[in-house]
Amino acid sequence: MIPWNHGKRLPTIPGRCKGQIVILCYTLLFYSVTCVDVEPQKEIYVPNYNVYHNLTRIGKEVEYLLKFPNYVKVYTHHKSRQNRQQYLLHISNFTKHSEKFDNLVEKPRILFSFGEHAREFLPVESAIYFIRNLTGGLLPDVDGFSRQFTQQILSLVDLYIILMANPDGRHHVEKTKNYCWRGTSTGVDLDRNFEWEFGGKGSSSDTEDEEYRGKDPFSEPESLVFQEITSDVSFDAFFSFHSGINHIYIPYSDTKSRQLKRVPDNIQEMLRLAAQLSRSTKYKYRFGTSHQLINYTADGTIFDYMAGIQKIPFSFTVELWGKQHQGMSCFDLFNPKSDELQKVVSNLHPLYINIIRYLSEWKSRNIAKMTNPYSERPSMVLGYMLLGITASVSAMICLHRKFRNCPKIYTHQRIVSLKTLSSSFPAKNL
Ligand SMILES: *[C@@H]1O[C@H](CO)[C@@H](O)[C@H](O)[C@H]1NC(C)=O
Ligand SMILES: *[C@@H]1O[C@H](CO)[C@@H](O)[C@H](O)[C@H]1NC(C)=O
Ligand SMILES: *[C@@H]1O[C@H](CO)[C@@H](O)[C@H](O)[C@H]1NC(C)=O
Ligand SMILES: [Zn+2]
Repeated sequence: MIPWNHGKRLPTIPGRCKGQIVILCYTLLFYSVTCVDVEPQKEIYVPNYNVYHNLTRIGKEVEYLLKFPNYVKVYTHHKSRQNRQQYLLHISNFTKHSEKFDNLVEKPRILFSFGEHAREFLPVESAIYFIRNLTGGLLPDVDGFSRQFTQQILSLVDLYIILMANPDGRHHVEKTKNYCWRGTSTGVDLDRNFEWEFGGKGSSSDTEDEEYRGKDPFSEPESLVFQEITSDVSFDAFFSFHSGINHIYIPYSDTKSRQLKRVPDNIQEMLRLAAQLSRSTKYKYRFGTSHQLINYTADGTIFDYMAGIQKIPFSFTVELWGKQHQGMSCFDLFNPKSDELQKVVSNLHPLYINIIRYLSEWKSRNIAKMTNPYSERPSMVLGYMLLGITASVSAMICLHRKFRNCPKIYTHQRIVSLKTLSSSFPAKNL
């Protein structure tokens, strides 16, 4: 997520310190501030890997997608520092007869990113559910409704997904059972490693800190897939999915932008989409710029980079789910219990559908505006056309009959047709 401590209220500890336990508390405080999010904690519950996907099973899910070569492309060359796959997927209808058709119906190009923070299992699970749903509609024995649903979604979007941005971090969590681990294999927070206000106060130069930004922008091999795909494809929208709280963030979240009150040019349009998304699931997301939602900053984030450097019109960080509490456990802050997982991911499903539907409408509106300046008022253009046709047909008939009977026979008819037309566009144009 963007947030830094993901809702952990560490500063409340000194408030509880009293008299003789001050020293103990300060020891605790020191321990918590320096280590709490990196050191393993006693967990309230942990994942059951027959329900949650471990890395091995995530790999199997991706392998399964190879069954749909006409709809899913799997790119395997993007790798982590320890040579694990990040699974870049491209989901679209690749069976199109001609390129021309594709250009005619221009769809939004959207990039989703999952798995940036190692301990946030839920976003990846949610992605798997969404992808399974879409590809489910391609199976031969599926019901007609699901088939149509998939056809419709595929007709609306050209979708790219980075399914597991930080596989080494995930491997570390699975191996050590340290469910507080957030970074890569070297402890870098990927979501601070990008070249937008890199190095500011909303990140850390301390290699032990969970917001360690790395040595330089893009110092981490895991960051390169984001850079590469955005230079290859011109995206309309980018979404970075996290968990820890129910928030939808709009850029910019860096320290300097907070001072400058810098926001994207199309902030109103972004707020409209965020508002729609916040209503699309039962989780009622709060949304806005991060200065409005939280009181800390984040420098070098991926979504700020996508907005500020790559100029992607819509760039969001979405925190899908969270259960905030005071205790020290980690897994339950970011992820539901195994036996609740299925329900949560199905609750989240409409969010993705809403993103796709909204942006598809936005894109057609935009294209229509660019190609036809009258497209905003089609009824008026139609009105003019009908008026023109009526007038010229009347004139031709009149001419044909050499003016004689003309006024008597046709005036009435003409008035009727003008009246009919007037109801379809503003009267003063008549
Ligand atoms: C992943 O989970 C499955 C259980 O679903 C288990 O059989 C397998 O050993 C796990 N793999 C690793 C590497 O932990
Ligand atoms: C996918 O999700 C849609 C919307 O929730 C649903 O109507 C459809 O049946 C699902 N498809 C499959 C194959 O589960
Ligand atoms: C993919 O496109 C082809 C050609 O336009 C079309 O016939 C087919 O129904 C589409 N498939 C899906 C699943 O939408
Ligand atoms: Zn996160």
